[in-house]
Amino acid sequence: MSRFTELPKAELHLHAEGTLEPELAFELARRNGVDLPFASVEDLRAAYDFTDLQSFLDLYYATTAVLRTRRDFHDLLWAYLERSAAQGLAHVEVFFDPQAHTPRGVAFTDVVDGLHDALTRAEAELGVTGGLILCFLRDRPVEEAARTLEQARDRLDVLLGVGLDSAEVGFPPAPFAAVFARAAELGLHRVAHAGEEAPASSVTEALDHLGVERVDHGVRCLDDPGLVARLVREAVPLTVCPLSNLRLKVVDDLADHPLPAMLAAGLKVSLHSDDPAYFGGYVGDTFDAVAPDDTTAALLARNAVEGSFASAGRKTELL
Ligand code: ADE
Ligand code: ZN
Repeated sequence: MSRFTELPKAELHLHAEGTLEPELAFELARRNGVDLPFASVEDLRAAYDFTDLQSFLDLYYATTAVLRTRRDFHDLLWAYLERSAAQGLAHVEVFFDPQAHTPRGVAFTDVVDGLHDALTRAEAELGVTGGLILCFLRDRPVEEAARTLEQARDRLDVLLGVGLDSAEVGFPPAPFAAVFARAAELGLHRVAHAGEEAPASSVTEALDHLGVERVDHGVRCLDDPGLVARLVREAVPLTVCPLSNLRLKVVDDLADHPLPAMLAAGLKVSLHSDDPAYFGGYVGDTFDAVAPDDTTAALLARNAVEGSFASAGRKTELL
């Protein structure tokens, strides 16, 4: 039981594909007749021994092969929503990676509609609100991202925004400027992973070239005092994921995590689980692992609600 169950929490950094627990992966593999390159749930879990972001992404993309139908995407996200609601989840903005699915022959609409089915059910049955953020894979060609955005044109009503994820080092934000500008024209919010493994300049580029309203991770911003001053001045929300940073070796120890320094600098930091099935903790577990006291936990939770794309009325309910 989380110490912070009673605190209404907003998850702003949560990848749908990163909620795939090994048990469900095997169930879906059986259901869809897909071969997983692991003999058992235990074997798969034993592979969760990552050396960096890329070593994790290799496994993350391999296991997504079991996700094939609208029902699969519903079942995936519903399992996350039920489990997280029990830890005090009140609102969630869910990242998803269409380019991890459509090249395998999965229909874009099945991905979106399955995830949206789960969110609709969560609002009715769990009182959890939320929306979807379509992420482009930055290590895939920009033209593919542009085509993916065009595929989204008849689902704009269920999309909150667009994001940028996958391998960061060697794949800077700037080439995606036109795709993000188009997303803005379509009325979508914009966020991007930046400053997770790549230096602070990645965060600056995401702000300047993509016009992002939030930065995902952003922990490396501390290397650039001018950038920190800008992020504080502009009150840019940073969605920080300490358990992810630990498991992907961005930090060697939770005790070395820059969260306290980020808070001390006055940054608008919030706390999230990233890929909870892989990193050993859902949103309440994450608060338990790093929130030092009730006052700080309340500040982190408030920052998340304020930094969310929820309606003004919903924000008022949660604050
Ligand atoms: N995709 C899923 N999790 C990610 C992370 N932490 N960084 C970049 N891309 C991701
Ligand atoms: Zn992430």
